Amino acid sequence: MKLLVVGSGGREHAIAKKLKNDPKVSMVFCAPGNPGMQTDGIERVAIQESDHQGLISFCQKEAIDWTFVGPEAPLAAGIVDDFEAAGLKAFGPKKAAAKIEGSKDFAKQIMLKNQIPTAKHQTFTEFEAAKAYVIAQGAPIVIKADGLAAGKGVVVAETTGQAIAALSEMLEDNKFGDSGARVVVEEFLAGEEFSLLAFVRNEKVYPMVISQDHKRAYDGDVGPNTGGMGAYSPVPQIPEEMVAQAVTEILEPAALGMIKNGTPFTGILYAGLIATKEGAKVIEFNARFGDPETQVVLPRLTSSLADIITALLQDEEPVLTWSDEATFGVVVAAEGYPGTYEKGMVLPKIANSEVAVYYAGVAEEKNQLVANGGRIFLVEAQGETLSEARQKVYHTLAAADLPKMFYRKDIGAKALK
Ligand code: AMP
Ligand code: GLY
Repeated sequence: MKLLVVGSGGREHAIAKKLKNDPKVSMVFCAPGNPGMQTDGIERVAIQESDHQGLISFCQKEAIDWTFVGPEAPLAAGIVDDFEAAGLKAFGPKKAAAKIEGSKDFAKQIMLKNQIPTAKHQTFTEFEAAKAYVIAQGAPIVIKADGLAAGKGVVVAETTGQAIAALSEMLEDNKFGDSGARVVVEEFLAGEEFSLLAFVRNEKVYPMVISQDHKRAYDGDVGPNTGGMGAYSPVPQIPEEMVAQAVTEILEPAALGMIKNGTPFTGILYAGLIATKEGAKVIEFNARFGDPETQVVLPRLTSSLADIITALLQDEEPVLTWSDEATFGVVVAAEGYPGTYEKGMVLPKIANSEVAVYYAGVAEEKNQLVANGGRIFLVEAQGETLSEARQKVYHTLAAADLPKMFYRKDIGAKALK
């Protein structure tokens, strides 16, 4: 098989590597990919993810069997619709279904109509009305830009003052452009967060093992929200019954709800959940794999990812089996991320066979990998226990030279308490 992965981050590196390690797969291309992926034999293709026609021509020329779309932006722009119109197979939701991530308001409507447990909310376009609602509800309260904002359009406000400032930035100052022209104001849910992802084909839902991301930039869950600073799997403090309940009360009704809505979903459905005292509740849906969740979930998959996607594309039953091992991953980011940061720092060569490195914001200069983005790379390890996997990762990072870079030192701390 010859396959194409669309995207350029650590998530796409993990997807492409998993596909590449399958004996049935002769070649994996990644467009546009990143130079770090070459360490795993993944071929880069210099076509941007927004260039649907360029990607279609490439697939036709190379006789690609199917394409896996990693990030949300091309999905929201209708890449799967365009591929299908050209007679090509692409795995991911169509434009109308990708809206479950692209519009928080749309996602809330699907949840309300299908009795899916989620935080109470209201949507606003007018600053004064939103402000009055925040004052009436009190803090803590959560303010979310309606559209895509790379995980950064969410403010968990501890005071009504902070909430009103966030509303003003989004609705009055246009900080997120059109993405923030509508704002969802949401009840704060207390509890631990976890990510439950599933392969979905219309009404069929095939859940993966759960993981836990760390969204805040700094140790102790403080600082700004990021795309995610580290993850691990399993998450022992989340009871199995809660996960089973989340599958039947959240993922399955969401898949059915999307069909009823006339926007059937095929692809990876990602539920961001909070384990509240009343059970799991949704804080977001994504229409794709998570980053960095993928880098710890896919290494636990013991059946073939290529077979799973092939089966789903042919409307057949996929086979999913998982290892009992624990996986653990820590993101190395540029100092200043998620704000402004420097680029060009030379990356250390990590030649430790106990860990895997998944590259994201990197470029190549004089045959060396250098930093070229906020989240630069992730170091992942497996172990019989979480603490074993964690030790391998932190031991590797402690020995690495990381100029003007930082990483969280407390990934997984909640699981080890
Ligand atoms: P989101 O982009 O919706 O995942 O939000 C980013 C982060 O904000 C989440 O990972 C949570 O840590 C936090 N968050 C979002 N919504 C809520 C909520 N309703 N209650 C508590 N925390 C939330
Ligand atoms: N790690 C969070 C996300 O991918 O949305």
